[in-house]
Amino acid sequence: MSLPEALGRAAALVQGRLDAALHPHADEPVVHAMRYAVAGGKRLRGFLVLESAALFGVTPDRAVSAAAAVESLHAYSLVHDDMPCMDDDDLRRGQPTVHMKWDEATAVLAGDALQTLAFELLTDPALGTGDTRIALVRGLALASGAQGMVLGQALDIAAETAAAPLTLDQITRLQAGKTGALIRWSAEAGAVIAGADPAPLRAYATALGLAFQIADDILDVTGDATKAGKRLQKDAAAGKATFVSLLGLEAAQARAKSLVDEAESHLAPYGPRAQTLIDAARFVIARES
Ligand code: IPE
Ligand code: IPE
Ligand code: MG
Ligand code: MG
Ligand code: MG
Repeated sequence: MSLPEALGRAAALVQGRLDAALHPHADEPVVHAMRYAVAGGKRLRGFLVLESAALFGVTPDRAVSAAAAVESLHAYSLVHDDMPCMDDDDLRRGQPTVHMKWDEATAVLAGDALQTLAFELLTDPALGTGDTRIALVRGLALASGAQGMVLGQALDIAAETAAAPLTLDQITRLQAGKTGALIRWSAEAGAVIAGADPAPLRAYATALGLAFQIADDILDVTGDATKAGKRLQKDAAAGKATFVSLLGLEAAQARAKSLVDEAESHLAPYGPRAQTLIDAARFVIARES
């Protein structure tokens, strides 16, 4: 399957699973905002779950709840990231952000409920034994909380007003949290579901996650807002600490490229079965949205 086909299939499966989870509550106002916030996006994290599962012969119907879980968690992080107290953005995935379309209280609550929905989805018996589901829940909690995404977001906000520019090590730690942790959980999830060794996928995803955020930071400088579906040229004015702010555009591009090569090298144990994951790594730095 080509990468566009695999991404499209992941998007459809994830959307179907999220629709099923939210449908019974469709008339609640906060659910309208949740449905709105989880719609669209590249579904890269859900794709990584399904593709890593496929490496071990785990079929999409068994893994889809984990793919939907991480997309729900990610959507929550975006709703809160866009709020006035954080990045203050009015456009996401080509649409008004949740706090612009509704209000700030709805954005807080829809984000909160998308986060808890993620953990509800991980209790799906299709994912495996109780032990497997606990491993998925614990991994996602660590990846998204005060040691993971939330830590990275806190460091990102703190860097805006830091007295001195962050060092390369500090920016790497910031980005490993805010973006890397969820990407790593996604790529490891297939191995966890299959009861296989997640180490090669973890190494792949560590490099991929960093390349992904560097590409996001490059897009902020060089991208087209219509294609990206979000406001660009904002990071420098906001004082964001990024590889681009520290190294400049060309060195950041070179770093992203070498991280993609590194990511690819970690997939060697899987042979040709990993081709779509290799294509995904290349896509991450070539994307326009
Ligand atoms: C955007 O993530 C936020 C970052 C972590 C950089 P994506 O670029 O994956 O956003 P969607 O899900 O495709 O909209
Ligand atoms: C967002 O990073 C990361 C999370 C939501 C965890 P950014 O703030 O760089 O993402 P964009 O550029 O708004 O999509
Ligand atoms: Mg941000
Ligand atoms: Mg932002
Ligand atoms: Mg950004």
